[in-house]
Amino acid sequence: MKRTWKTVGLGTLAALIVIQFVRPGRTNPPFDSALSLDSSGTVPPAVLAKLRASCYDCHSNETRWPWYSAITPVNFLIASDVNGGRRHMNFSEWRLMKPERMQSRLGNISDEVSSREMPLPIYLLMHRDAHLSDADVKLISDWADARQDSMAVLTGAGGN
Ligand code: HEC
Repeated sequence: MKRTWKTVGLGTLAALIVIQFVRPGRTNPPFDSALSLDSSGTVPPAVLAKLRASCYDCHSNETRWPWYSAITPVNFLIASDVNGGRRHMNFSEWRLMKPERMQSRLGNISDEVSSREMPLPIYLLMHRDAHLSDADVKLISDWADARQDSMAVLTGAGGN
């Protein structure tokens, strides 16, 4: 019996070592900072600081990859959230969006933070500094709502 457990243990260890050779790409693709939300001149510094702390790891090309993101299979889960996040909305490419899309994204941001669906709960487990207080949620959603309204007034006039 003892021997069997030892074999299982060693087998598991060997498997864990072998799968370390299978890794997803962890990249921060280059981007033009002139196209980022940061340089749009439409975000107060306090709001930007919150977005950078709580959203940019998944919604920008400036991901801070944690050390455990080098370990298989955790890295696959993290890379999948980052890729999914960037695909839905990428603050590094914010100004490439059409005004209509930007408006709807602003509405989504307000909804997602107010309903506390974003930042993803699993991310908050490992990033306590990314937690948003009620005041932070209000700060972000008030900005996104006001920005969305002002863009509606300017319909078609750019606004990015
Ligand atoms: C751990 C990664 C992660 C973090 C951190 C994160 N997101 Fe997301 N976000 C995702 C993923 C993955 C999706 C796409 C899948 C989904 O909707 O769950 C997404 C989708 C979204 C969407 C699009 C929803 C739609 O309707 O298409 C918005 C808006 C959004 N996130 C806002 C935010 C904001 C604002 C923050 C910070 C307060 C944030 N996210 C933090 C991973 C993340």
